[in-house]
This record gives sequence, C-alpha cells and structure tokens, in this order.
Amino acid sequence: MATLPILVAPDPRLKLKAKPVEQVDETIRSLLDDMLETMYAAPGIGLAAPQVGVSQRMLVLDLAREGEPRTPMKVINPEIVWASDEDAEHNEGCLSVPEHYADVVRPAEVKVRYLDETGARQEVHASGLLSTCLQHEMDHLDGILFLDHISALRRNMILRKLTKARRSTD
Ligand code: NI
Repeated sequence: MATLPILVAPDPRLKLKAKPVEQVDETIRSLLDDMLETMYAAPGIGLAAPQVGVSQRMLVLDLAREGEPRTPMKVINPEIVWASDEDAEHNEGCLSVPEHYADVVRPAEVKVRYLDETGARQEVHASGLLSTCLQHEMDHLDGILFLDHISALRRNMILRKLTKARRSTD
C-alpha cells in the first residue's frame, strides 16, 4: 500500500465528472487500499478517487473514532436511490479544502446502491454522519465540493485563502 498526494482546491481536476468503474479488478482493489491508507494518514473519515487525481467513481470511508477498531467501507459506482424529505445540517470539512469548515444542509437520510470491492451489489440506508459523509464523497464524483453548497461570498473567500496558502508554500 502507498499514500497518494491529495489534490487541494481550486485544482481543476476536482471539478471533473468521474467515469464509472467498468470492472472491479486487482487494480481497483489496490487503488482502494491506497486511498484508505491515504485517508488514515491525513487523517480523514472519507476520500473520493478524484481527490487523488483518479477520475473514477469510487470512494472510501471509515467513521470509527480514534482508538476504536477500524471499519473501512469501500464504495464503487454509488447511486442514491432514495433521499428523505427531511434535511439535516452538519459542519463539513474536506481533505481537499484543508482547515476550512462550513455548515451544509443535505437530505437527512439516503439509500445508496453500490458495488463492494468484490464487485457484489450492496445497498445501505444511511443516516447521521454516514449519510452526510456518503453524500459529500459522492459529490466529489460529480466535481462538486462542499464549498459549492455554501454562499458564493464564503466560497470565494475560502478559495482565495487556499490559493494564497499554496503560493506561500511553492
Ligand atoms: Ni471532501
């Protein structure tokens, strides 16, 4: 396994719509393992393939708290097949938007269909943090960041700060 460099906004590769995974094979499984290792090292609770420059529809999650046993989830070609009418607001962050957080409103619960790392079909009914996290990571597959859910004023302020921070480290 290896850790991969994580792209930081406003990188144009984060705005691409990712392509479906056509075959769940060793290459895909090895990439999912590298994504998990990258996420744990960051540390973060979710990471989507476009964040490591891979424009394919897959993501990894682990909502276990520090000190708890790991509970990795590998999600390929996910689709939301149902969303609740009720919304919920969570304070979100993103490994591609380091050190910035914002409250984002999304459906409180979703049902998501996906393939696991063996290529088997799975369905999860998610609420709470899992629901938020799945929706956030699935947004990445369509080139959407949590910043796209907040006011343009706040978004542009954060993007300016990220651009400035990058210039100072180049
Ligand atoms: Ni993110």
